Amino acid sequence: MFFASLLLGLLAGVSASPGHGRNSTFYNPIFPGFYPDPSCIYVPERDHTFFCASSSFNAFPGIPIHASKDLQNWKLIGHVLNRKEQLPRLAETNRSTSGIWAPTLRFHDDTFWLVTTLVDDDRPQEDASRWDNIIFKAKNPYDPRSWSKAVHFNFTGYDTEPFWDEDGKVYITGAHAWHVGPYIQQAEVDLDTGAVGEWRIIWNGTGGMAPEGPHIYRKDGWYYLLAAEGGTGIDHMVTMARSRKISSPYESNPNNPVLTNANTTSYFQTVGHSDLFHDRHGNWWAVALSTRSGPEYLHYPMGRETVMTAVSWPKDEWPTFTPISGKMSGWPMPPSQKDIRGVGPYVNSPDPEHLTFPRSAPLPAHLTYWRYPNPSSYTPSPPGHPNTLRLTPSRLNLTALNGNYAGADQTFVSRRQQHTLFTYSVTLDYAPRTAGEEAGVTAFLTQNHHLDLGVVLLPRGSATAPSLPGLSSKEEEGGQDLMIPHVRFRGESYVPVPAPVVYPIPRAWRGGKLVLEIRACNSTHFSFRVGPDGRRSERTVVMEASNEAVSWGFTGTLLGIYATSNGGNGTTPAYFSDWRYTPLEQFRD
Ligand SMILES: *[C@@H]1O[C@H](CO)[C@@H](O)[C@H](O)[C@H]1NC(C)=O
Ligand SMILES: *[C@@H]1O[C@H](CO)[C@@H](O)[C@H](O)[C@H]1NC(C)=O
Ligand SMILES: *[C@@H]1O[C@H](CO)[C@@H](O)[C@H](O)[C@H]1NC(C)=O
Ligand SMILES: *[C@@H]1O[C@H](CO)[C@@H](O)[C@H](O)[C@H]1NC(C)=O
Ligand SMILES: *[C@@H]1O[C@H](CO)[C@@H](O)[C@H](O)[C@H]1NC(C)=O
Ligand SMILES: *[C@@H]1O[C@H](CO)[C@@H](O)[C@H](O)[C@H]1NC(C)=O
Ligand SMILES: *[C@@H]1O[C@H](CO)[C@@H](O)[C@H](O)[C@H]1NC(C)=O
Ligand SMILES: *[C@@H]1O[C@H](CO)[C@@H](O)[C@H](O)[C@H]1NC(C)=O
Repeated sequence: MFFASLLLGLLAGVSASPGHGRNSTFYNPIFPGFYPDPSCIYVPERDHTFFCASSSFNAFPGIPIHASKDLQNWKLIGHVLNRKEQLPRLAETNRSTSGIWAPTLRFHDDTFWLVTTLVDDDRPQEDASRWDNIIFKAKNPYDPRSWSKAVHFNFTGYDTEPFWDEDGKVYITGAHAWHVGPYIQQAEVDLDTGAVGEWRIIWNGTGGMAPEGPHIYRKDGWYYLLAAEGGTGIDHMVTMARSRKISSPYESNPNNPVLTNANTTSYFQTVGHSDLFHDRHGNWWAVALSTRSGPEYLHYPMGRETVMTAVSWPKDEWPTFTPISGKMSGWPMPPSQKDIRGVGPYVNSPDPEHLTFPRSAPLPAHLTYWRYPNPSSYTPSPPGHPNTLRLTPSRLNLTALNGNYAGADQTFVSRRQQHTLFTYSVTLDYAPRTAGEEAGVTAFLTQNHHLDLGVVLLPRGSATAPSLPGLSSKEEEGGQDLMIPHVRFRGESYVPVPAPVVYPIPRAWRGGKLVLEIRACNSTHFSFRVGPDGRRSERTVVMEASNEAVSWGFTGTLLGIYATSNGGNGTTPAYFSDWRYTPLEQFRD
């Protein structure tokens, strides 16, 4: 065993050979938008490819996987959680902080392993059913069907990861529910059945709140334990400990924390929850989550994003991480290669996105639902409506029953906000017939944090003003109908949001298609606009709203479309076309 571990240390290539070429320059975040809690690996056996997984909470498909061969061009290759049968319980979670928490991705024995937790945050900390710890595996991560159903194992905690020791024993390490901790626990596990042995405390952290996100690395005859502490807010940090034995005693690094932006003025805050991997030259890298908020921590609609840094880790010594900023310098990178397989787009594409929804084609891989969708509510290019996506309304609106729980599907499909400044617009063809029916666009963070611009059928006299700002008010409500279509902005958040505004749709626009637009006009505000299709000069600002309303919690803003009967009986479909997302600018400092 001693010999084997020595050999493994050598094979791991950690002799810090510099690789070829010059040190690299790269930019954070590497995955902009809602991609928190990154876990990455380097897999020489699969064409020298790097793979990363992220948390997804209630979003579906869940647990996105990105791949790269050069650490520069990353492609979304699919999702671990891509079928309801893999984990039916995601349909039942309560609260926006529930769902899939931090996954760990590892490769062992020619298999990809993904260990994570489905958390139901509405239940007491000590209730075992709050923490549904699960294992997925796949031979081929590019093929959605290759990912197994979840195998469950018992642990009253979260942030679980697998580790294969040199003697053949397999361990799970995780963070115990923090109010009864704080501590990092470990047990032996059978990854195929989920049977676990006795849980033991192996480290209590350095005293920061909520030691979590543990990862173990074998190097130079040591077991290095990396963890996050301080909570996933402004005090977040990465700490390390090491031991000669896997179980303990772990001694803390005297230089902790190894990575944090706490108490700095950096635009990149909340840096923590890290994972380490090395490239083919044995140079070490780390990923972590970070929030582009500055220390004010008020405006960060994209939430917790994935950042990367270079790590220098000489033999027998503790690693040194370069602090996180927007422009980074690090080890030489492999030459640029854009030949990654898989369905999704490359991250950070500067190109405008224009989706046309071909008939019978699956929706693009980067589009996201909230929990499991009702597939029949989404029809690409139905007969007579080419290049459109038809949405059938759900009874539930975006807030659903109480802002926390849905209990049934919500018709809503979205993409992540991935740029500080952007415009997102769609064309809507919609003639609501039943009172309360609504379809529109939203900047959605959670069921109780969203800003919506919709077309809704309301009784005559419902408007908050006789006409849209800047338009003349003559007879907008004219005619005989008791119910007329209105345009409505409304917001929902834990912070104050503008009061709803409701305007009758101008008579000159009625019966035609409308363009609905959300624009990030600066780093703090969105504007919501509406206008008749094809007459850009008539596009009107309905509302400017602070993005503080969608800067909260664990997830990041989704930009998307919805259709709902608002609890009523309406079933009128809404036809969306010309889905355009145009990146304008990325702020990095
Ligand atoms: C979720 O919340 C709803 C409404 O508060 C409640 O009826 C339901 O029992 C909760 N479900 C779970 C699984 O906790
Ligand atoms: C997990 O715990 C429950 C109840 O304590 C028990 O019934 C179940 O068999 C355990 N599952 C495993 C895989 O050990
Ligand atoms: C961690 O803290 C617990 C509870 O305070 C204590 O029982 C345990 O001995 C500590 N373990 C280590 C490894 O420090
Ligand atoms: C930040 O500063 C506070 C107050 O001085 C201190 O308690 C805390 O440990 C610091 N955090 C880090 C990660 O350095
Ligand atoms: C190259 O990057 C590594 C990792 O950040 C650093 O340790 C090293 O000093 C850099 N080398 C040069 C020549 O700048
Ligand atoms: C962004 O725009 C809004 C609305 O025009 C304005 O109130 C706000 O002060 C602007 N913020 C910044 C940082 O310029
Ligand atoms: C959203 O749905 C809930 C429950 O169906 C309902 O109580 C609420 O009024 C709806 N919101 C709007 C704006 O209609
Ligand atoms: C929905 O339809 C049912 C049955 O026709 C009726 O009783 C109910 O009042 C309707 N609900 C609304 C909100 O219109």
